[in-house]
Amino acid sequence: MGELCVHSVLVTGANRGLGLGFVQHFLRMPKPPQWIFATCRDPKGQRAQELQNLASKHPNIIIIPLRCLLEAFLPLLKKAAQGSPGSGLSCSKAAIINMSSYAGSIEDVYLWDFGQVVSYRCSKAALKMLSKCQSLAYREHGVLCVALHPGWVQTDMGDTGSYKPPLTVDDSLQGMLKVLSSLSEKETGTFLDWEGKVLPW
Ligand SMILES: NC(=O)c1ccc[n+]([C@@H]2O[C@H](COP(=O)([O-])OP(=O)(O)OC[C@H]3O[C@@H](n4cnc5c(N)ncnc54)[C@H](OP(=O)(O)O)[C@@H]3O)[C@@H](O)[C@H]2O)c1
Repeated sequence: MGELCVHSVLVTGANRGLGLGFVQHFLRMPKPPQWIFATCRDPKGQRAQELQNLASKHPNIIIIPLRCLLEAFLPLLKKAAQGSPGSGLSCSKAAIINMSSYAGSIEDVYLWDFGQVVSYRCSKAALKMLSKCQSLAYREHGVLCVALHPGWVQTDMGDTGSYKPPLTVDDSLQGMLKVLSSLSEKETGTFLDWEGKVLPW
């Protein structure tokens, strides 16, 4: 497994939950990214206070108001890939990580009896297709793309049912960052969980 070496990263939904967890874990890396572009819908709002506090202590965090992103940043991803040594794909080079969910699996309609959440399932299934298309379109530009399921995690979203989710944000982040450090061209276009297991499509 390679070491995850991140020069710059853009995290969406970075004001809370897993997005904020990603920012915190990137800051704790032995060699933190030079730039962490932390995006959220309302950077001045109450729910972005923790992110604002972090940014006031870490000048490498740039907060950007953003709802959804990718086309605007694609030229930068391509440039990052071109400027990195080696021919393979990796997260240390250039990558798009789409936060999907096992709930979006069509082959194994996960926990249907627990919660049907049809529109959520449809959006996450569509996100897998987006990841697949991105992997095909951007492979030649050196950009790796995967859809990742973070596990069932104790966040505002994960905590909504009557059961306590088994994973803390830290558990999920530690697993996901380990998985990200191990990805190569073999995995581009795949659907993986926080432990690196391939999930039914
Ligand atoms: N937690 C789990 O168990 C679990 C399991 C599977 C997948 N996931 C996925 O992991 C991702 C992060 O979830 P989380 O658990 O960290 O949830 P969370 O704590 O509820 O945080 C959700 C984040 O997404 C932002 N957001 C929500 N709707 C948005 C929209 N329409 N446009 C732009 N930003 C929006 C929120 O911003 P505001 O503060 O502005 O609302 C917030 O930053 C999600 O894609 C979720 O589906 C989570």
